[in-house]
Amino acid sequence: MRTHTVRIHGMGAGREPQIPGTVILSSIVEFVLHRAKSSKHVQGLVGLRNLGNTCFMNSILQCLSNTKDLRDYCQQNSYRRDLSSKKCNTAIMEEFAQLLQAIWTSSANEVVSPSEFKTQIQRYAPRFMGYNQQDAQEFLRFLLDGLHNEVNRVTVKPRPSSQDLDHMPDSEKGKQMWKRYLEREDSRIVELFVGQLKSSLTCTECGYCSTVFDPFWDLSLPIAKKSASEVSLVDCMRLFTKEDVLDGDEKPTCCRCKARRRCTKKFTIQKFPKILVLHLKRFSEGRIRSGKLSTFVSFPLKDLDLREFSSESNPHASYNLYAVSNHSGTTMGGHYTAYCKNPSNGEWYTFNDSRVTAMSSSQVRSSDAYVLFYELSGPSSRM
Ligand SMILES: *[C@@H]1O[C@H](CO)[C@@H](O)[C@H](O)[C@H]1NC(C)=O
Ligand SMILES: *[C@@H]1O[C@H](CO)[C@@H](O)[C@H](O)[C@H]1NC(C)=O
Repeated sequence: MRTHTVRIHGMGAGREPQIPGTVILSSIVEFVLHRAKSSKHVQGLVGLRNLGNTCFMNSILQCLSNTKDLRDYCQQNSYRRDLSSKKCNTAIMEEFAQLLQAIWTSSANEVVSPSEFKTQIQRYAPRFMGYNQQDAQEFLRFLLDGLHNEVNRVTVKPRPSSQDLDHMPDSEKGKQMWKRYLEREDSRIVELFVGQLKSSLTCTECGYCSTVFDPFWDLSLPIAKKSASEVSLVDCMRLFTKEDVLDGDEKPTCCRCKARRRCTKKFTIQKFPKILVLHLKRFSEGRIRSGKLSTFVSFPLKDLDLREFSSESNPHASYNLYAVSNHSGTTMGGHYTAYCKNPSNGEWYTFNDSRVTAMSSSQVRSSDAYVLFYELSGPSSRM
């Protein structure tokens, strides 16, 4: 698919010699592209049947279905290569890929049933058994983890290295820690979704700073200033990365003082993922049980600039929104929908289980936005 796109582009730009066959082919291509633009022929606008309280699952599946690189991975059968050498169960990936293929080959307003997929995911994570309302973000975690385990290119994991990296400069240490992570966990899923978080612990006594680097699959953001009725996503990021004081029972041991000391702790982003999933902590304990914060969190659809949260200087950290899981209602009785930007025509649609309707991008921001999917902007839009 990727090479095709490049070739089509080359033709359009007229860089190739115009032999008659190419002219015909390029007008066919133009015709097809034109048809793809008129919304009647847009693919991917297919609803998912609600199997009984499964809107949390449907909402996340639609967000993932509109994750272009993940869809391509499933549609082009590249995932099969990664599965081919596997002796473990590969049913989640297979059912997931089949579901995405069904979504992207059915005609608009058809409805696809995710029941086979559901059978496999609940075999992997029995907590999703039955037909109870669940938390969409927890489901996303389980699903990505399940997919990754099946397509992990590492079959024999090396023993975790115990070599001490503390003598290295931080950026080098971060790279080494990432390399170690990939030696054990290396898949298309990791390439797309996983970033690296740096946590710096500074002793208030001697000033010694120790750093830890951890991979992350999403960031769970506390909602800033609970009393205000409106906050921005960047406010929530600032709260998440705010310097914390660890004192009293929480006092860590300083490696230099060799004693428990009052320390400050701060997060920065060491490596920005291609797909950044931001989860707004609207529910305490991450469960849809207690109250829900319905604070309006405003977030940009384009050019979310996260450079101020980077550990390194001059990172590429500008993101565009392409999907949102929307949770309405307050308790277990709530309802999930998804808003997704179609990767082919760039228009926004609402996915409400089996129903798919066009929407305006101005409706995307609401006080019900719960999980946000951002994609790192391409190098061209950086200019
Ligand atoms: C999102 O949730 C809100 C609150 O219930 C609801 O009014 C809105 O219609 C939902 N949006 C979509 C597009 O599902
Ligand atoms: C979703 O669809 C149901 C009917 O199937 C409807 O009652 C509900 O209002 C819709 N919700 C949103 C947010 O569009």
